[in-house]
Amino acid sequence: MISTDNKWQAICKAEDLSANLGVRAILNEEQVAIFKVRDDLYAISAIDPFSNAAVLSRGIVGDLEGAVVLASPVYKQHFCLKTGSCLEDDTVKLKTYPIRDNNGRIELAVA
Ligand code: FES
Repeated sequence: MISTDNKWQAICKAEDLSANLGVRAILNEEQVAIFKVRDDLYAISAIDPFSNAAVLSRGIVGDLEGAVVLASPVYKQHFCLKTGSCLEDDTVKLKTYPIRDNNGRIELAVA
């Protein structure tokens, strides 16, 4: 759910996003990985919690059990792009961020 009170920060142009390829952005000193999959936008923390490396923008997008997931390039865990949940370890959840396409500008909500 996207609140209208959020302040939005422009990240890039919509045309700069390629389908299924991540873009890394910095939001309030947090590293965020942004993806466009089909017509949906997703923003998750770019930090892989298993390796502590900021690599998730280079993960591989796929489909697992009906969910749009991202496989970490390090140890290959899968994260649900919508919820941030790790499919192999339900104690692990990535932070997710509100994201929108505002007339061709990709924006993230500043908390
Ligand atoms: S919505 Fe079910 S695993 Fe993501």
